[in-house]
Amino acid sequence: MINPFDFNGKTVFVFGGTSGINLGIAHAFAEQGAKVAVASRSQDKVDAAVSALLQHDGGEVAGFCADVRNPDAVAAAFSGASQALGQIDVLVSGAAGNFPATALGMSPNGFKSVVDIDLLGSFHVLRASYPYLAKPGATIINISAPQAFLPMELQAHVCAAKAGVDMLTRVLAMEWGEQGVRVNSIVPGPIGGTEGMERLAPTPALKARIASTVPLRREGTPRDIANAAIFLASPLASYISGVVLPVDGGWSLGGATAFMMEVTAAIKH
Ligand code: COA
Ligand code: NAP
Repeated sequence: MINPFDFNGKTVFVFGGTSGINLGIAHAFAEQGAKVAVASRSQDKVDAAVSALLQHDGGEVAGFCADVRNPDAVAAAFSGASQALGQIDVLVSGAAGNFPATALGMSPNGFKSVVDIDLLGSFHVLRASYPYLAKPGATIINISAPQAFLPMELQAHVCAAKAGVDMLTRVLAMEWGEQGVRVNSIVPGPIGGTEGMERLAPTPALKARIASTVPLRREGTPRDIANAAIFLASPLASYISGVVLPVDGGWSLGGATAFMMEVTAAIKH
């Protein structure tokens, strides 16, 4: 039987792929034989991610410095990736920003900065990817968050932005399905050791609470999310499009809301 998870000969572009969950996804695809491109704002982070990918996985790797808020830089990164690695088959779009603050505690520019990165930035990345991905078998995976469908205090900007990201997933699954492109979202649960969780659970007490709010009683790992990304990009998922898939040990069934109420109490008081 053909191995459905063999990505030899395929190229995967992970936008926002230089740290945390998204870098974990890049490693996992590289391990499965894919050529991998990563992009983010910081040249130092791009260089470090490229060397880590080369060191751990070998294969062909390319890195690009691009802020998702700049559509020209995003377009240049896609052009560079296709010149360096050939056709692009899979896009993972996961650049994001977050900080905990009440709606009144964030300035208009604070709200705008997160919406600009998470939502408008996703739009720039998705739109720029189209000339490269408009072909049968191509796959797009947006990295969303539970905030997209669970209202959380201190997260007005992220809730608004990620809800928009999931709507982009659904609309583009409709608009681009005719070309054979599948578009899905993955919603990670609380992933240990990441910048995202560090920002929401900065104290030892909150860190200690996370796992107990997950039905499976553990934090997730970048590998948990990467496994779902590999499945969604594989031929086994060839009839799955427009789906928003929580990969969270059941956290969004109730624990996420309970945990964020504790975060709110700890940060506000
Ligand atoms: N509380 C309230 N407002 C905050 C804040 C906080 N903790 N942190 C930043 N802001 C506000 C700033 O004050 C600024 O608003 P102002 O100009 O009215 O003062 C606005 O947000 C933009 O801040 P700035 O630092 O200039 O933005 P940036 O573009 O350099 O960075 C962020 C964007 C703020 C999202 C930053 O946190 C970031 O780069 N995050 C990426 C990493 C990350 O968040 N990872 C987790 C992913 S889930
Ligand atoms: P992270 O390590 O901070 O990853 C964010 C990535 O996006 C980095 O590579 C960062 O690199 C890049 N980035 C940020 N702003 C950018 C911009 N303006 N332009 C281009 N790239 C930018 O965070 P993480 O916690 O692993 O989160 C990864 C994704 O998972 C995010 O989409 C997040 O919303 C989602 N998520 C995380 C969790 C969690 O538990 N951590 C839970 C649910 C959802 P630069 O700084 O170099 O730009």
